[in-house]
Amino acid sequence: EPRHILVTGGAGYIGSHMTLALLDAGERPVVIDDLSTGFRSAVPDGVPFFEGNSGDPALLGAVFDRYPIEAIIHFAASIVVPDSVSQPLDYYANNTVNARALIECAVRRGVPHVVFSSTAAVYGEPATVPVDEDQPTAPINPYGRSKLMVEWMLQDTAQAYPFSYAALRYFNVCGADPHGRTGQSTRNATHLIKVAVQAATSQRDGMDVFGTDYPTRDGTCIRDYVHVSDLAQAHLDALRHLRAGRPSIICNVGDARGHSVREVIDVVKRVSGVDFEVRLRERRPGDPASLVASNARARQMLGWTPRYGDLDTIVRHALAWEQTLLQRRQNG
Ligand code: UFG
Repeated sequence: EPRHILVTGGAGYIGSHMTLALLDAGERPVVIDDLSTGFRSAVPDGVPFFEGNSGDPALLGAVFDRYPIEAIIHFAASIVVPDSVSQPLDYYANNTVNARALIECAVRRGVPHVVFSSTAAVYGEPATVPVDEDQPTAPINPYGRSKLMVEWMLQDTAQAYPFSYAALRYFNVCGADPHGRTGQSTRNATHLIKVAVQAATSQRDGMDVFGTDYPTRDGTCIRDYVHVSDLAQAHLDALRHLRAGRPSIICNVGDARGHSVREVIDVVKRVSGVDFEVRLRERRPGDPASLVASNARARQMLGWTPRYGDLDTIVRHALAWEQTLLQRRQNG
């Protein structure tokens, strides 16, 4: 029977792009999602869907009994840095404890490969940017720690069993499918570009800038914004790497260019043609000043080539998806 790829969190923002990328590449995705933040409608027709927690051994057993799973791409997690500061135990439960159960099931059932959603937050406040994978990990928030522990579990598991993994350290994921098929649908989103395009489409009354006294060129935080479809492509590249029998790998996935919060807001205003209100606020807890990737390893070792890194393109795609969401809501 043909091999399938299990996508946990496949009804979510990044996971729904991944499912489409797998279908586009002729692969067979199977989705698990508890729909806590994802949407059933984001899973394309014909893709097997299991509702529940990706750390539930009974559910995983049912999936593995039904489909021969060759690899797991594990997205299901909580991702909001300030929430991880106020609710750390929730983050360790959902991100760390559930991942442990998933990895154990994978090993028991002989699944040879896992591609894991790690994060640039494992670096904390890096000593130098751009940051490469050999720089020390020193997370400054529970979110980063909850993910770093999973990297460690994967590393130890790959030493002990016939198993290989790719841990992809995402920088700031944004944008939407260039063909308009999916995007970020979360209503109470906290991510900068999503918030800004909501302000530009009058779905919220202006927006806040959290911190204007950082040691950066304009006082606001600098981040590396990577297009969600480029990110999905990096997972396909990682899958090819693991299937070829190459060793486990940890890779940054970022665009390698830094943009300040003010610069991002300016691009959203220019591309949308809307001048919304911007309020200058205090710093938000858990934010490093500057986080920009070196992506040399992903390019060299995975053969990854980002195509949509340009911020104008990212914002155009994010705005187009926002219009789609608005139309769908109007049509009931
Ligand atoms: N920001 C604002 N106003 C907002 C939202 C965000 O000023 O309304 C600022 C934040 O303070 C921060 C920057 O915009 O300086 C980016 O914030 P996001 O919330 O968009 O993203 P984070 O950098 O906090 O975190 C994201 C992901 C993490 C990932 C990290 C890696 O949520 O999963 O990028 O860089 F680890």
